[in-house]
Amino acid sequence: MLPIGSIPSFLLVSALLSLVLATPPSSNPPRQLSWYDKPILEITSRTHDRRLISQLLYKSYEEYLTLVSSNRSPMHVSNDKINSDRECIENTVIRYFLKDIKYITKQYEASECRINTNNKYKSVLQPTPNIHVLVHETSDTIQKQLETKIELELQKNDKFKDTKFYNFENLDYSIECLIGYQEIAQVKMEENDIEAMIEKIVEIPDACSFQKVKHDFDGKHYETIKIDLPLNGTLYCRRGRSSTCNRANSEYKNSRFKVPI
Ligand SMILES: *[C@@H]1O[C@H](CO)[C@@H](O)[C@H](O)[C@H]1NC(C)=O
Repeated sequence: MLPIGSIPSFLLVSALLSLVLATPPSSNPPRQLSWYDKPILEITSRTHDRRLISQLLYKSYEEYLTLVSSNRSPMHVSNDKINSDRECIENTVIRYFLKDIKYITKQYEASECRINTNNKYKSVLQPTPNIHVLVHETSDTIQKQLETKIELELQKNDKFKDTKFYNFENLDYSIECLIGYQEIAQVKMEENDIEAMIEKIVEIPDACSFQKVKHDFDGKHYETIKIDLPLNGTLYCRRGRSSTCNRANSEYKNSRFKVPI
């Protein structure tokens, strides 16, 4: 975080309101648009809440500051008041471009990590109900809007038009992992996703005073975002130790047992 005194006034409100997500800053120059040169989402004060614009500006500001002042203290930023918050917010345009997509698989923890300490019975491990919903819960409205726009964009493309997203009807929640004495296991979900690479370009007017950080600021801030759109998944038993499951974090209490060992 920046010292409060160094933040332009319009940004301060959102700094206090927003939980700024820690994404690594990127200094990448504009690249050739490879997918579509039309934005899939455009955000201005005419279409969205001013507070949202302010939050996005603040995030850009923080990243920009990190980029240009890695060797300097952020205290060097001018403390001058911005003369026109309104002009800054109202002339900011944030555009999201779909650059590329690919198929990926992801692994999620779908239950606690369990060890069986009972030498007479096997213990039963089952998936956490609705884990496929829980892992995708988000309150990030832009992420949700981007997901919807990407889906719409893909549906226009012959290769992807039959793609079904969030197709989890076939997830088998009745699976049971039977764990023998001193064995360790966890239910996992393997998910197939389409990963979309999004380029976000923030056009920042002079009124926002970014050039007080660096006088030759060119008025644009770039960021690459990945959005994963779930297609489907499978639940399976992962036996033995893993990166998310070991003796130290395993649960043995409240076990359900059946089948003598
Ligand atoms: C999941 O979706 C992929 C890509 O559409 C497909 O190839 C695969 O057969 C599907 N798998 C399941 C388990 O439905």
